[in-house]
Amino acid sequence: MHGPDDPKEGGFQPQLRPGARFARDAASRPILMFEDVYKSYKPGSPVLRGMNLVIERGEFVFFTGPSGSGKSTLLRLLYRSETVDDGRILFMGRDVARLSQDSVPYLRRNLGVVFQDFKLVSSWTVFENVAIALEVLGLPQRLITSRVGEALDRVGLARRGGDCAGVLSGGEQQRVAIARAIVGEPALILADEPTGNLDPQLAIDILGLFEDINATGTTVLFATHDRSLLEIRPRRVVVLDEGKAVDVRAGVTPGDDGFSGYDNALPV
Ligand SMILES: Nc1ncnc2c1ncn2[C@@H]1O[C@H](COP(=O)(O)OP(=O)(O)O)[C@@H](O)[C@H]1O
Ligand SMILES: [Mg+2]
Repeated sequence: MHGPDDPKEGGFQPQLRPGARFARDAASRPILMFEDVYKSYKPGSPVLRGMNLVIERGEFVFFTGPSGSGKSTLLRLLYRSETVDDGRILFMGRDVARLSQDSVPYLRRNLGVVFQDFKLVSSWTVFENVAIALEVLGLPQRLITSRVGEALDRVGLARRGGDCAGVLSGGEQQRVAIARAIVGEPALILADEPTGNLDPQLAIDILGLFEDINATGTTVLFATHDRSLLEIRPRRVVVLDEGKAVDVRAGVTPGDDGFSGYDNALPV
């Protein structure tokens, strides 16, 4: 038997290239579903309180809500740096919340994550910072070299591979982090305030890069509290409000009332 229940598969199938990665029937299902997810760090102050959300393959979704509303928590639950208290998180048909610890690396091969503070090794070259994502998978060096080259090309840093990451500008460093996130060709990219440390124009450039990645079929979840970014393009916007996810109409910016009580809220 081959599949998710085969222990040799580690619970998550580690295919790198698109195509063979999904079980046939999973291709027609949403890539991601949160079902009645609860999470609190301290008793009595839950962050997520019965959160439900469905994300289809290929979507670009903004997650927003004020600081402390649980955007980072939601993403951490998904890449399993935190675990749920209750509920299910179905990613490509598997319940992330109930993966064994041994299976977590396989989950992460299918996810690319980008953070506000880039999380590069500043003494390494640009190439080395991207290559590490493939080296941990034990790919042959020739393949690593060509795929890192492709990823750097996609983020507009084709000739910067030999530069030390620490000398790059903030915008360039975030591009390196994005190259690292996409080099394994994950099905889903998670970005947690990826423009939070950048000037407004650079933030728009970086948003555009995520849009380019999305245009190739990769699903993108983009967490931001920067309302100006939400206004730039009509996108699906999901607001975290009182521990639940609420869809607001694409292109409509939440009001100035602390992100709650939308006239335009749609049931999820
Ligand atoms: N590791 C943690 N331990 C305790 N509380 C936390 C931890 N991480 C986040 N929180 C709390 O959970 C709430 C949601 O935080 P977070 O998910 O970081 O929100 P956001 O990303 O929307 O700003 C906040 O009240 C925050 O203080
Ligand atoms: Mg956050």
